Amino acid sequence: MADSLILAIESSCDETAGAILRNGREILAQFVASQVDLHRAYGGVVPEVACRAHMECLLPGVDQLLRDADVKPEGLSALAVSHRPGLIGALLVGVSAAKALALAWRKPLIGVDHLEAHVAAAGLACPELAAPYVALVASGGHSNLYLATGNEAGRGGMTPLASTLDDAAGEAFDKAAKLLGLGFPGGPRIQEAARSGNPRAFPWRDAGLPPDGVNFSFSGLKTAVMRIARGQAGRRGPLLLDGQGVADAAASFQEAVVHALVSRALAAAERNHAGWLAVGGGVAANSRLREELAGAAAEREIRLAIPPLALCTDNAVMVAARAHALFATGVRDELDLETAAR
Ligand code: KG4
Ligand code: ZN
Repeated sequence: MADSLILAIESSCDETAGAILRNGREILAQFVASQVDLHRAYGGVVPEVACRAHMECLLPGVDQLLRDADVKPEGLSALAVSHRPGLIGALLVGVSAAKALALAWRKPLIGVDHLEAHVAAAGLACPELAAPYVALVASGGHSNLYLATGNEAGRGGMTPLASTLDDAAGEAFDKAAKLLGLGFPGGPRIQEAARSGNPRAFPWRDAGLPPDGVNFSFSGLKTAVMRIARGQAGRRGPLLLDGQGVADAAASFQEAVVHALVSRALAAAERNHAGWLAVGGGVAANSRLREELAGAAAEREIRLAIPPLALCTDNAVMVAARAHALFATGVRDELDLETAAR
């Protein structure tokens, strides 16, 4: 079979990204334009600001990408784009651009599920990953467990096993960081503050585990952080903790999220007789989570597929990797491809 050369676009949230992959593995070029500095002033991602930045960065990025990869549009096999889930306006920018390029260059178009792409990043990092495996996607918008049984060639082949009953893990990191006065983005800030904190200072370890034994729940944990950090006044009240108190709260919070993700993911893997646990999403960049996952998986003789940090947070390499698998099984989309927030 001829080589496949896929150009992928990612614009579902606050990173504008592009990548060109050969045969779903070899990265010829990629870029990630982060908008973190633009959103910091607002303390979170502002959809309209994200859309405008995607508009500005995307096509210049694609132009440079082709030059970096030394690829001509004629040489591409297909154009791929994240088309769900995400911020709807942000997705529309990427999908519109991908459609226009596919039309102008007469190339097939492939819409990719952003969460399936996060799982594909684990497969890219760990080529031996094989079904049956359980996948954990922990990002700003999702905390999901899936079972992959090997019938994932087409779309929607992963069976959902669990999700969050309220806030997503990354969302909880972002909200807790705000309550602790640590700023944006919350995940890396909490991780940093937690280094000098005591993870047992506050009794929150089981707060992310709802009684159903399956799903996640992080909003109660967020409320617990608010009580400690801001007291009766609530989220607009003054910060009541000193530096050590903030570090202790950050460490205790992080411990709770990590404990919930690790225990539920490994229980699901055992329950489903999965030999592997694949992990993806921005929260998978968390060093404490990576450490705990590695230890817990090794204890149960479950193999762990987890991407390097840069492929955990949003990127287009993972979109191209997922698109390659779809392309190889004949999946193609039309120019009326839709976007979906969920
Ligand atoms: O996958 P991602 O880049 O975008 C979405 O698809 O949502 O995930 C972003 C989320 C944010 O909530 C961010 O705070 C979190 O991932 N995150 C982290 C870390 N790095 C990013 N959470 C915990 N620890 C980190 N080191
Ligand atoms: Zn993501």
